[in-house]
Amino acid sequence: MKEEKALHIAIVLAAGKGRRMNREIPKQYLLLNGKPLVCHCLEALEASRRIDQILLVVGAGETEYVKRELVEAYSYQKVAAILEGGAERYDSVSHALEYLDGRIPETSYVYIHDGARPYLEEDLLERLYQMVCREGACIAAVPVKDTIKQVDEEGTIQETPERSRLWMAQTPQAFSYPLIRDAYRKLLAEGRTEGLTDDAQVLERTGGQAVRVVEGSYRNQKITTPEDLPLEKK
Ligand code: CTP
Ligand code: MG
Repeated sequence: MKEEKALHIAIVLAAGKGRRMNREIPKQYLLLNGKPLVCHCLEALEASRRIDQILLVVGAGETEYVKRELVEAYSYQKVAAILEGGAERYDSVSHALEYLDGRIPETSYVYIHDGARPYLEEDLLERLYQMVCREGACIAAVPVKDTIKQVDEEGTIQETPERSRLWMAQTPQAFSYPLIRDAYRKLLAEGRTEGLTDDAQVLERTGGQAVRVVEGSYRNQKITTPEDLPLEKK
């Protein structure tokens, strides 16, 4: 019997409140070069030869707005669904993974990406594609440039981890679909979600699957606080 073809699905997270950005509208809708922030990564994914479909996860009550003002206005063809996220990033990811259950072949892969990272490039998607097909789990990351200090509550240095082994985690983070779905299910069922800020950590906590780093890019920054967003040119 012919196997159903594996799909490569991007899950774009845009359901956060952007509290650290301190603006009235969530940061994913702020304009960067005349376009809403989240549209920049959607364009890269739309143009990618490796990505088959996009699942967009947005805030409660934002689905209609996003459909009309972003997906239809910019004619994105790969956006297969727009879902509502949850209170925490991991809730938003979990919603997307559960939505995909039964809708895609179990041999598929997901590329989980922060909608607040506009500088996504095709060569990074290609590196992730190559690695995830081979290893089943990988994330974009870059070596830290500064020396990192571990400090206690008073701000006193406890230790200096060896810099050559420290990498800054980015997104996309790419996984075999059933692998990451089942790991998320387990962690959420056990309530072991404290301090969870990325997807690789879910596999680190559930164990049993190595996660590789793939060379990201220093440009692929997350827009988090006001100084991260270049001012609009007048
Ligand atoms: N995100 C999400 N659902 C949440 C929280 C975050 O989809 N409940 C998304 C954000 O929209 C963002 C990405 O996850 O694209 C990374 O999160 P972060 O940079 O922390 O964004 P916010 O949570 O929106 O910002 P803040 O933590 O400052 O409130
Ligand atoms: Mg956040």
